[in-house]
Amino acid sequence: MVEFANTVNPFYASRKKRDATRNEACDRPVYARLPQAPRNGSPVPHLTSLYHFHRAGNYGDRKWPGNCGGNLIKDLLNYFQPTMVFDPMTGSGTARDVCEEMGVACFSFDIHDGFDACDPHEFSSESTFDFIWAHPPYWRQKLYADDPRDLSRAPSLEEFLRRYGQFIRNCARALKPQGKLAILMGDYSDREAGYVPLTFHTKRLAFAAGLEQCCTDIIRFSHGASSSKKVYRSSFIPGLHDTCMIFERTNHCI
Ligand SMILES: C[S@@+](CC[C@H](N)C(=O)[O-])C[C@H]1O[C@@H](n2cnc3c(N)ncnc32)[C@H](O)[C@@H]1O
Repeated sequence: MVEFANTVNPFYASRKKRDATRNEACDRPVYARLPQAPRNGSPVPHLTSLYHFHRAGNYGDRKWPGNCGGNLIKDLLNYFQPTMVFDPMTGSGTARDVCEEMGVACFSFDIHDGFDACDPHEFSSESTFDFIWAHPPYWRQKLYADDPRDLSRAPSLEEFLRRYGQFIRNCARALKPQGKLAILMGDYSDREAGYVPLTFHTKRLAFAAGLEQCCTDIIRFSHGASSSKKVYRSSFIPGLHDTCMIFERTNHCI
């Protein structure tokens, strides 16, 4: 049984002090009117650049640190209609469960199974998949495994980005031509490194790997994030979303 020694960013502990007064108004849901989406031929008309559905669906394990809901994955699979999916950072198996429900073939591994997605030798040389779902650690915002190969254990931002870049290149090579790589990533504030724009770095590294972005960013509202329930003494602008970026394999992939 895997044990998570520390799932909370250790560099962020000072923000967790609970002596700020809780504002009751903040506890109530806030409703915002979304812009109307143009009608089009999409098989998933509710899938737009704003992903605001608060139900996670019965996929994976909500208690797994960093678990993401399955409905966005399901909508993407319905949109792109892949036949062979890969999830190289499986966590609790959310994507695998969605694929099982939809009858789509899915390979899924995690560092907890001993599979290092940042090692090019772990990937077959065949271009096998037409869709890869990747939900990597947001650097050390949450720590996952004791294994030093766990991306969340990268000791510096530079080292994280070096290994993350290799991971993206591995995925690009594992895609069939025109195959899609969907990466869910979020920016975060690190006590030592400051604000870390990981979505920017994701695009930079994906483009450097020869991938092209094939549709809009999908801003996923972070309903149910554990940080939403915390009270912080310091002042900051809360980030309430992460971003799903979808890239396509081109002939330029390296
Ligand atoms: C954000 S979580 C994924 C959560 C998953 N989407 C879910 O819904 O349960 C990131 C996962 O990446 C895994 N991971 C970190 N470094 C890895 C590596 N080098 N190779 C494979 N998996 C890795 C972690 O163990 C963790 O389960």
